[in-house]
Amino acid sequence: MSKYKIAWLPGDGIGVEVMDAARIVLNRLQLDAEYIPGDIGWEFWCREGDAFPARTVDLLNRVDAAMFGAITSKPVKAAEKELAPALQGKGHSYRSPIVRMRQLFDLYVCLRPCKAYPGNPLNFKEGLDLVVFRENTEDLYAGVEFNPVPPELAAVLSTLSKPFAPFAKLAGCDYAISCKVNTRAGSERIARAAFEFARQAKRKKITIVHKANVVRATDGLFLETAQAVAREFPEIAVDDANIDAICMWLLKNPFNYDVLLAPNLYGDIISDLSAQMVGGLGFGCSGNTGKKLAVFEPSHGSAPKYAGLNKCNPIATILGAKMMLDWLGETAKGSALDAAVAAVIKEGKVRTYDMGGSSTTTQMAQAIADKL
Ligand code: NAI
Ligand code: MG
Repeated sequence: MSKYKIAWLPGDGIGVEVMDAARIVLNRLQLDAEYIPGDIGWEFWCREGDAFPARTVDLLNRVDAAMFGAITSKPVKAAEKELAPALQGKGHSYRSPIVRMRQLFDLYVCLRPCKAYPGNPLNFKEGLDLVVFRENTEDLYAGVEFNPVPPELAAVLSTLSKPFAPFAKLAGCDYAISCKVNTRAGSERIARAAFEFARQAKRKKITIVHKANVVRATDGLFLETAQAVAREFPEIAVDDANIDAICMWLLKNPFNYDVLLAPNLYGDIISDLSAQMVGGLGFGCSGNTGKKLAVFEPSHGSAPKYAGLNKCNPIATILGAKMMLDWLGETAKGSALDAAVAAVIKEGKVRTYDMGGSSTTTQMAQAIADKL
């Protein structure tokens, strides 16, 4: 029997190709693992009315970790049109499988390392090494949404909130409400994860990202909770920044930042910005971790226009595999993989289209495997 059981979820579009590429390097590393394929993505939505079928949920309950490629998502109404005719009008409603997975398995940490590998022609600046800790289960992504707004909700809000008055006059179908829900416990555990990481990795500073001056209730709670956790880690410097301002400051003075800690939506935004500073979507990877399960993925989507062309950069997914190795405790293999990626980038002979080259997805994976 293998030491590890890994759920293998390629999903849609280029998800399939970048995951095949990740397997090339994992196989070369001879990780003692059984890779168990799982169904996820658009075809299962269209055929079964569920992009994240119950059997895949069962699979995730039985594994040590999962690797996930990418899925295609569409807005609710467009999604309903593509459902098999027999399923239409039966109350199926599309929700992103990755968001559901994060909530169902309480994968509350989204960890996104953004390191500029020396010699990557796409680096914004050489030497960048940022890490984003994004809360992964709450905030505007909690899924508490109303469109149309039910009259009972409007009635309660009218009595409780003065600023609601102009909206109270509208018909329910003429506005929508998405609730931003942040808890003290949720804010505390992501803050603790970030500070513990910083302590262990000998990082010097954490910047708490928020908009507490305007979004006072939720972001106020997040900021105050994170600052309280910070007091337990006196050796780590702490500051905070508004989400809008930091988008500017990160570009202006990127070396002023080290670890960024943010609630869900702002974390999503700064991780794309940070990923772009170290090469863009072909380099951005992400670990969604909870107490029992961890799911590793590239940050990019299914890039339908490149699907099947064996053209996209697999490095983001390969770095996701590196994060998985570290999480499993296979840190020697994780470091070897990191060094192999660094060596191929530095050499500059094998480059995918986004890096200005014409190597294929498979050639990139092969080149990395050959350095192992
Ligand atoms: P995308 O990330 O799929 O692609 C945007 C563009 O980025 C591509 O057209 C390509 O030019 C570039 N790109 C992406 N990955 C790359 C790679 N590995 N190497 C080189 N270039 C790469 O985002 P888009 O086009 O907005 O969304 C396509 C679909 O993916 C949508 O259905 C969307 O909902 C879904 N999506 C899924 C995500 C996930 O599964 N976690 C995340 C983001 C989007
Ligand atoms: Mg995103």
